[in-house]
Amino acid sequence: MNSSARPLAIISGGSRGLGFATARGLAADGFDLALIAKDAQRLESARQALLTEFAATQTALTITTHAVDLEDQVATRNAATEIANTLATPKVLMLAHGVMSEKMSKTLRTTDAEWNRVININLNSVFILVNAIAPAMAEARDGRVVIYSACLGRMSGPGNAGGLAPYRISKAGVNALVRNLAHETGLGARGFYVDATCPNHTRTDMGGPDAPRSAEEGAETAIWLATADITQRGSESITGVLWEDRRVIPW
Ligand SMILES: NC(=O)c1ccc[n+]([C@@H]2O[C@H](COP(=O)([O-])OP(=O)(O)OC[C@H]3O[C@@H](n4cnc5c(N)ncnc54)[C@H](OP(=O)(O)O)[C@@H]3O)[C@@H](O)[C@H]2O)c1
Repeated sequence: MNSSARPLAIISGGSRGLGFATARGLAADGFDLALIAKDAQRLESARQALLTEFAATQTALTITTHAVDLEDQVATRNAATEIANTLATPKVLMLAHGVMSEKMSKTLRTTDAEWNRVININLNSVFILVNAIAPAMAEARDGRVVIYSACLGRMSGPGNAGGLAPYRISKAGVNALVRNLAHETGLGARGFYVDATCPNHTRTDMGGPDAPRSAEEGAETAIWLATADITQRGSESITGVLWEDRRVIPW
């Protein structure tokens, strides 16, 4: 067990993009980090970059890395169980990994392989990580689960007119998981919060170089959900919803 008194944040997708930007924000806020991603070298580079950046301001910062292919359900379950059994109970579980589906992945044209790849990474691994790691957080009555969803997974609002079926449906599934889990755990009444966030179109490997938002801007609401006093939400029972720019938006 990690005996440090510093809070721990477990961050999937922490090697780059929005997950890395979120890791920076949480490190600045005094969290120790456990970073999960697929590529071990990128994880180590992220770890070194964070340790260098915070060498002067967060001298006690510790970062562990956990390389696993989240497309593989057995490997994901094994890694999640290992993390739950060996690290301290996290205060924050931040799920910021994900893949986009292929451009032509309309429902009638998507292959089984593409469907399963995207659903496994974007939805099934979210279930496994939450199912393995969050019970101790709920038990501790002190935990926040924040999951990067996407506006493309909404059932309302602009931009949900079809296409990218595996991606959109995986994110709609993430939204449903968040709402369901929040209700199962008392909507914040027991000190456990679970929320989805839409970062908006952000300059990352997924979002591309022409996206309007920086990674820091895209990560801002997720960091706020993980760290801000719960009363800043307006009410302690506001959880199990979809957030964009610190505001609740319809699913
Ligand atoms: N960027 C946007 O405009 C945008 C908009 C809406 C929602 N989102 C959501 O925000 C989240 C982060 O997106 P991003 O733009 O930061 O993406 P990104 O830059 O492409 O980074 C993806 C992250 O997910 C990890 N990952 C991907 N496949 C994996 C696998 N099979 N096993 C383990 N880790 C895997 C990557 O790890 P490796 O480095 O090891 O590959 C990387 O850390 C995603 O859920 C995405 O759907 C993004």
